[in-house]
Amino acid sequence: MRASQSRTEGGVHGERLRDRIAAELARARARTTLLTEVVDDGDLMRQHSPLMSPLVWDLAHVGNQEELWLVRDVGGREPVRCDIDELYDAFKQPRRDRPALPLLPPAEARAYLATVRDKVHDLLDAVAFTERPLVADGFAFGMIVQHEQQHDETMLATHQLRSGPAVLHAPPPPEPSARVGGEVLVPAGEFIMGTDTDPWALDNERPAHRVDLPAYAIDAAPVTNGQYAAFIADGGYTERRWWSPAGWEHRVREQLSAPMHWRRDGDDWSYRRFGRWDRVRADEPVVHVCWYEAQAYAAWAGKRLPTEAEWEKAARWDPSTGRSRRYPWGDDDPTQVHANLDQRHLWPAPVGAYPAGASPLGVHQLIGDVWEWTSTTFDGHPGFAAFPYREYSEVFFGDDYRVLRGGSFGTDRSACRGTFRNWDYPIRRQIFSGFRCARDVRPDESYR
Ligand SMILES: [Fe+2]
Repeated sequence: MRASQSRTEGGVHGERLRDRIAAELARARARTTLLTEVVDDGDLMRQHSPLMSPLVWDLAHVGNQEELWLVRDVGGREPVRCDIDELYDAFKQPRRDRPALPLLPPAEARAYLATVRDKVHDLLDAVAFTERPLVADGFAFGMIVQHEQQHDETMLATHQLRSGPAVLHAPPPPEPSARVGGEVLVPAGEFIMGTDTDPWALDNERPAHRVDLPAYAIDAAPVTNGQYAAFIADGGYTERRWWSPAGWEHRVREQLSAPMHWRRDGDDWSYRRFGRWDRVRADEPVVHVCWYEAQAYAAWAGKRLPTEAEWEKAARWDPSTGRSRRYPWGDDDPTQVHANLDQRHLWPAPVGAYPAGASPLGVHQLIGDVWEWTSTTFDGHPGFAAFPYREYSEVFFGDDYRVLRGGSFGTDRSACRGTFRNWDYPIRRQIFSGFRCARDVRPDESYR
């Protein structure tokens, strides 16, 4: 048993929090280990795409952030290795340049991570979860857990770009157990967006604030491969009228004609998923499309992308109580009946596979499966305050990025909430990105 007298906040709460943090750190590290041990050293050092870091950069960067925030800042300990801070600073080293850096070789990177983690366990045993914002509710530990899991998702995306035989294996996602389709009408009115209370929510999810929305309709499920293939078959990629000027220019320059990783297979399509070619399955959410493609599809379908607020209201608003939930299904953490998360499977689940994860209004698969593009550019909520550093999100605010919501099959549950916000450039599609559509409602469809 651990002694707790020496801690300012000990007792059951502190002990439970310590156990939870230790378990989450271990879960993240098991995933990092899996993703970096299924390939050889050459593969770890190689850059599989100019969009991505060599896996060995992500690996040591995860350790370096853990050292900076937990060992040095929270723990006030001596640096383990301050000579490598620059190398693993994501702002100083653009991804395309990272392969040319004098990176720690795999064995050295692994040893570095282990040393840092030992020190973190040491200080976790002794830390007092005081009111200091960085440590209250174990925030810094939660931030580091989420950081590692986010890099694990990035490393999973690197695996998807890697050529060569399959090295990752997982059972297929569950089959549909409900018929889901069409749209859901969301009545006009206020809801609470963002959070003040989720202890590990990041700065850009805060604060909670009221947002008033007109009535709208949103798809009950993400757009499927079958629907997207119909857009392609109808000349979606060759008709300029569906595309924004910037989107069309990008489509032409990059010669986009289908989602990334698709190829023609007779009259059908196949896709490559982690080194295996499969027939495209019609009832799975489409993945690996950029924002411009999503926008063009929506225009073709006579709809539009949802705003970020529309996405969040559909996901969190409970009409019977008027409050916003942590997740579509309630306040409980996700389990495997709720959503396709945690890299349990290596692709999105068919529509209808998670009826227990639907929102009160009947919107399905908002969490997990695919990140969903919204029409909204990335900015702070009203009253935003950068914490604990501007580089986490504030430096990305502005018109360059679009917000994605909900997490994918490759997102860990610790880094996914009804309030969690992701962002990327509108041209990116190496991420696990899909979308659903929304539209304004006509007055005759409106609620009373
Ligand atoms: Fe990072």
